[in-house]
Amino acid sequence: MKELRTRVVIVGAGPAGLLLGHLLQRSGVDNIVLERRSREYVEQRVRAGVIEFGIANLIEDAGAGERLRREGLVHHGVEFRFERNAYRVPLSELADGKSITVYGQQEVVKDLIALRLVAGAPLLFDHEVTVLDGLTSDEATIEAEGADGKTRISCEYVAGCDGSFGVASRSLPARVLRKYERTYPFSWLGILAEAPPISEELIYSRHENGFALYSMRSPTLSRLYLGVRPSETLDAWSDDRIWDELNTRLATEEAPEIRQGPIVERSITAMRSVVVTPMRHGRLFLAGDAAHIVPPTGAKGMNLALADVRVLAEALLAQLQRHDDTLMATYSKTCLERVWRAEEFSNYMTQMLHPSDEDDFENCVQLARLRQAVQSREASTVLARNYVDLNSL
Ligand code: FAD
Ligand code: DHB
Repeated sequence: MKELRTRVVIVGAGPAGLLLGHLLQRSGVDNIVLERRSREYVEQRVRAGVIEFGIANLIEDAGAGERLRREGLVHHGVEFRFERNAYRVPLSELADGKSITVYGQQEVVKDLIALRLVAGAPLLFDHEVTVLDGLTSDEATIEAEGADGKTRISCEYVAGCDGSFGVASRSLPARVLRKYERTYPFSWLGILAEAPPISEELIYSRHENGFALYSMRSPTLSRLYLGVRPSETLDAWSDDRIWDELNTRLATEEAPEIRQGPIVERSITAMRSVVVTPMRHGRLFLAGDAAHIVPPTGAKGMNLALADVRVLAEALLAQLQRHDDTLMATYSKTCLERVWRAEEFSNYMTQMLHPSDEDDFENCVQLARLRQAVQSREASTVLARNYVDLNSL
């Protein structure tokens, strides 16, 4: 077994683990990032795309925003469609001039990996962490398995940034762990298509057939989603069926048909809300999806993960450089207040935009909520502020 020592072990090279590794490294704190997948896999994994105002600033302040500022698409509004009508919510006008940036999660990941490799900092792909030990003793140890055998690393702190199916949250003892969970009766079928977007802004649509979302990645790439039943599989969705359904659900009296193109990526994701508490146990800190999942309506997942890291990096630096553990002591509480705000917003957006198959009362309430969201200045201001910058409020 190979033996290593570092100050902080970071489990997972998603956006959370990579940003944390970079912020610590930049301040002179040695750390090792371990990732069970290959570099190619994490760089190609298509997921989130909307970056909040304050989170784009965080990425830029970390020195990782050069390409994001150059290639990211800045949006000042968002559209809602229901009952064949379209309504624009002027985000920037309602949220103190702030905007969102549309830039793929895998591009953020690529930018952070490139920075780490240039810095020569250790980032071990194809290394799966299997054991976290000593979390409440003088020193933590983790074990990882890779193609070259086993590695054991001793460290002062462990950051569990290993996503919702990772090993870190499972290391919390049952006597301290409390998990809050909700599942929803739908999933999202997402596609990436080589087709120029038909709209300059995102479109969230509620149709009696179900939810649809029009998003994009660049002037030539569209990203679209359909709400589907959780039991659905990709085999049942031919390209023609996907495009027909998108056109049906996004149609208004005036809207043009969607531009079609080759579908280059497709997947189905179940929708869940999960919060794991506490987010700290001894030498272990959870950040990002390892601690919480939001349903994707509202685009909060990656933003929430990076906002945790902002707090965690400060807390670790205060302790490791100045022996000040006050921020560590409040880490879980500080994050959870924001996490629950994001859970509430994602739940609100989800339940307003996904019609029920069975409950017509629920459907009428959803439409009333949507009308209020686009017609009342107070309601659209709350929506805009949460959508644009929830994680810095
Ligand atoms: P992750 O990105 O999941 O990174 C965790 C990393 O840890 C992974 O690379 C994983 O391979 C690694 N890992 C796991 N276990 C181990 C181990 N034992 N040892 C070593 N490494 C390990 N959010 C949105 O806002 N909009 C979306 O459209 C959207 N779509 C999504 C689609 C899918 C399929 C999924 C799963 C999530 C989606 N999300 C979306 C959520 C968003 O992508 C996440 O919130 C974000 O990835 C969280 O970042 P993270 O770094 O916390 O976790
Ligand atoms: C995207 C994803 C979301 O979950 C969302 O609410 C908006 C946009 C996207 O992938 O572009």
